[in-house]
Amino acid sequence: MPVVECRNVWKIYEPKVPALRGINLKVDSGEFISIVGPSGCGKSTLLNLMGCLDVPTRGRVLIGGCDTRKLGDAELSRLRREKIGFVFQFFNLIPALTVLENVVLPTVFSGRKDPKKAKKLLEAVGLGSKLRRKPAELSGGERQRVAIARALVNDPEVVLADEPTGNLDSETGAAILDLLSSLNRETGVTLVLITHDPEVAKRAERIIYMKDGKIVREVRK
Ligand SMILES: Nc1ncnc2c1ncn2[C@@H]1O[C@H](COP(=O)(O)OP(=O)(O)OP(=O)(O)O)[C@@H](O)[C@H]1O
Ligand SMILES: [Mg+2]
Repeated sequence: MPVVECRNVWKIYEPKVPALRGINLKVDSGEFISIVGPSGCGKSTLLNLMGCLDVPTRGRVLIGGCDTRKLGDAELSRLRREKIGFVFQFFNLIPALTVLENVVLPTVFSGRKDPKKAKKLLEAVGLGSKLRRKPAELSGGERQRVAIARALVNDPEVVLADEPTGNLDSETGAAILDLLSSLNRETGVTLVLITHDPEVAKRAERIIYMKDGKIVREVRK
């Protein structure tokens, strides 16, 4: 069963911007896929729908076979918390919290506070010596590694990453990409990555090309 499935998904922003026009996409467990396409083609809109941060205007999004239209707000936020990890271009860390606190936070929300797990993940991404720093005291690459540890702390089934290397220099970006792809290989976490960069996209097993709100081509390695 796919981890995430989009069935004829449309998103029309008011008044009438058709950002997605009939997306059909199945992402299987353990896959690493990338989504590419020109600015404004609907990549972030699609990722937000796959992560249940937003709802389609038409069509459905299924997570682990479950039709998300049937879920209420509380159930949706639980599903997001437990099954989905997000990584964004601008990191979205909480500035007032330390590195460790930022990664612990999702475990607090899920009612299973787990500083040990958070620390272990931060060590795994090479930040074991910077647990008490604040995000502002880190480099961009380090901030993104904190965000990756945070995305993984609740053992999600899928990590959705929107231009995770978009705000980093190419060397740091390559290191972040290595980290994400090794996590995919070693832990089996499903990875969906949006990028502008064809070289980045090629790292995935499957590349989805979008244009004007549609999937226009799909390439499997
Ligand atoms: N909240 C919104 N309200 C209205 N229109 C929106 C909203 N968010 C996005 N759009 C429009 O929907 C279309 C798709 O936007 P989206 O952010 O998904 O593109 P994208 O492929 O991620 O682009 P980029 O590569 O620049 O990030 C664009 O035309 C955009 O202007
Ligand atoms: Mg975008």
